[in-house]
Amino acid sequence: MKGIILAGGRATRFYPATISISKHLLPVYDKPMIYYSLSILLFAGIRDILIITNPEFLPLYQKLLQDGSHLGIQITYKEQKEPRGIAEAFIIGEEFIEDSKVCLILGDNLFFGQSLGQIVQKAAQFEEGAIVFAYPVRNPKDFGVVEFDQNGKAISIEEKPEKPRSHWAVPGLYFYDNQVVKIAKNLKPSARGELEITDVNREYLKMGKLKVMPLGRGVAWFDTGTPDNLLEASNFVATIQRRQGFYIACLEEIAYRMGYITKEQLLELGKKQEKTDYGRYILELARE
Ligand code: G1P
Repeated sequence: MKGIILAGGRATRFYPATISISKHLLPVYDKPMIYYSLSILLFAGIRDILIITNPEFLPLYQKLLQDGSHLGIQITYKEQKEPRGIAEAFIIGEEFIEDSKVCLILGDNLFFGQSLGQIVQKAAQFEEGAIVFAYPVRNPKDFGVVEFDQNGKAISIEEKPEKPRSHWAVPGLYFYDNQVVKIAKNLKPSARGELEITDVNREYLKMGKLKVMPLGRGVAWFDTGTPDNLLEASNFVATIQRRQGFYIACLEEIAYRMGYITKEQLLELGKKQEKTDYGRYILELARE
């Protein structure tokens, strides 16, 4: 199973047009936004990861995450030159995907919950077709919206519908079999000029192969695209971390707990960041 993070967007809601800043490098409380999506791939056991970003920002991601070997994983990078839609990730990533299954996560989606590791590990074991998740929201109009039966079989899926058929939003985390590359290549751009991920999902729905896994109340999901959402997500992370003393999306910790790196490696990573609370947290773990 391979993993793709799509992190191409500019922080246009946070900065004027005179300056171009990468949205997914903005901090959510105390760490870069992209850490949160990367943490989900690590939890799922996915260690071969492609980051797709705008050419302008690519060197910054390379500086931040390098080739991933310090985390016991492999990270490669590719450019998305224009924002031509989420589904373009499978066309850009064709060579990377090869004949594997693939998990795609949007770089601005943040998930948190005790059972989440198990949920994504289970999802990663699917044999064929596609898996999307469903999360109950009060504003389904703003998202992809899915309807499904008791067995988790999708009945309908629509992108930002005027009249939503359910209150189940589809978060930016998807699992696909290898057919996804062919499906993405055959898509036509939507009215907003993008290759829509919902159109990919609709193809799987037509084949009767779109499975939906509802995320229950125990899971928190944030799309950190707007100032209010970003603030909410930051406050959430701060509250949990201060209260529990456990960090959300500490990549070094997850890599260690998943067995990707040793305690000695963890210690080295902590030392390099010991001037920050984040680094000191890693050091504490390494010295336990
Ligand atoms: C995208 C997808 C949408 C999904 C959402 C999750 O929307 O098109 O189906 O529900 O991400 O974050 P966008 O944020 O590109 O408008």
